[in-house]
Amino acid sequence: MTTIPKDKNFDSSLILLRDGYEFIQKKREKLGTDIFRTRLMLKKAICMSGKEAAEVFYDTEKFQRKGATPKRVQKTLFGQKGVQTLDNSAHRQRKEMFMSLMKPDSLRGFLEIQRSYWEKYIDKWEKEEQIILFNEAQELLCRAVCTWSGVPLREEEVQQRARDFGAMVDAFGAIGPRHWRGKQARKRAEKWIGNLIKEIRNGKIHVEKGTAAHTIAFHRELDGKFLDTQVAAVELINVLRPTVAIASYITFTALALHRYPQYKKKILSGKGNLTEMLVQEVRRFYPFTPMVGAIVRKDFEWKGYIFKPGTLVMLDIYGMLHDPELWEDPGEFYPERFINWDGNPFTLIPQGGGEHLHGHRCAGEWLTIESMKQAVDFLINRITYEVPDQDLTFSLSRMPTLPSSGFILGKIKRLP
Ligand code: HEM
Repeated sequence: MTTIPKDKNFDSSLILLRDGYEFIQKKREKLGTDIFRTRLMLKKAICMSGKEAAEVFYDTEKFQRKGATPKRVQKTLFGQKGVQTLDNSAHRQRKEMFMSLMKPDSLRGFLEIQRSYWEKYIDKWEKEEQIILFNEAQELLCRAVCTWSGVPLREEEVQQRARDFGAMVDAFGAIGPRHWRGKQARKRAEKWIGNLIKEIRNGKIHVEKGTAAHTIAFHRELDGKFLDTQVAAVELINVLRPTVAIASYITFTALALHRYPQYKKKILSGKGNLTEMLVQEVRRFYPFTPMVGAIVRKDFEWKGYIFKPGTLVMLDIYGMLHDPELWEDPGEFYPERFINWDGNPFTLIPQGGGEHLHGHRCAGEWLTIESMKQAVDFLINRITYEVPDQDLTFSLSRMPTLPSSGFILGKIKRLP
């Protein structure tokens, strides 16, 4: 039996706020270990990193999600009683509901809708001197996901709804005004979507079978009952909000094409299957999810370390995506690394690891990848643009982060 190395600080919450995405990685380097004990918000926690750590973290016999999400994250990012907080058969049943929306036909449907909005936005952008890609992508995705999901969205509310979904995500590593904005945004969205669920159920609004709105409104729990209205709203928002969040990845994709223009050329010349590899490398290289948490279910021993029931354990997502043990020259942006990638489910984990249906791996991972591939196609093959002088730096201590300017594109023209 070995004792898990201990962080010397009594509580590391302030250091987490300072070091952000690099918090676990820096502590690992300082302590010379892949696993350490600390306190976050006064709560004892174990932080760990590495492929084997991910394998054990996603073992649902050893870990549960009940009790893992802090209240402040439930009030902003996740909502209460959603799929993220469930375990066992309740989780499985709810996750099946989400995965039923991710069948190939349904994903194709999303891409068709998203494509039509790209076309409309290009018409609009051609008339403007410059645009901020992040803001535009949020609105474009908000329209696309609402159409796809069967959620009516009036023209005059697009901007506010898109910003609200953005604010929920923007709140996840925040204290103060950003947290407060995320909380207000969630309240507004839950009221809006809660009312929609009621109207779908009582027949006032008709939505097509197979859409997210229909599937979630009429989903039955293990006890045979419909989801509580508020929980149904949380789950439909669990489709809408993260789809709008793909705007961050689209912005980082544009940044990658700007910083590494050789890939633009290679993709234009149609050599190999570079688009998907570029998308995978964007998800690996650029920061989005810093870490995920779970609670030890029952006593177990791993590598000689004892894990006690009820302990919070954090898995280092960003650190693992930049770990030289897992990725050669992790600081290099190099999409070709995926040519011979073995597809291990515990190494490329920007949207969680393990398995989609049985575990907590992101339900929208395939949709995210396909949406990003389409964005690459539009940015490279369908338009030309200029990148004016601007601040494209992003801070690793801000969670979530983004290029400061939001990525300004100028003089956008549609290619014939
Ligand atoms: C879970 C990231 C897009 C729906 C997750 C998790 C992460 C994540 C890190 C948690 C994994 C874990 O707990 O171990 C992302 C990122 C996205 C994205 C970075 C891109 C912007 C999407 C999309 C959807 C979606 C487009 C739906 C259309 C979900 C759901 C869960 C989840 C429902 C909960 C799964 C569960 O608890 O079983 N995502 N996601 N996400 N994501 Fe995503």
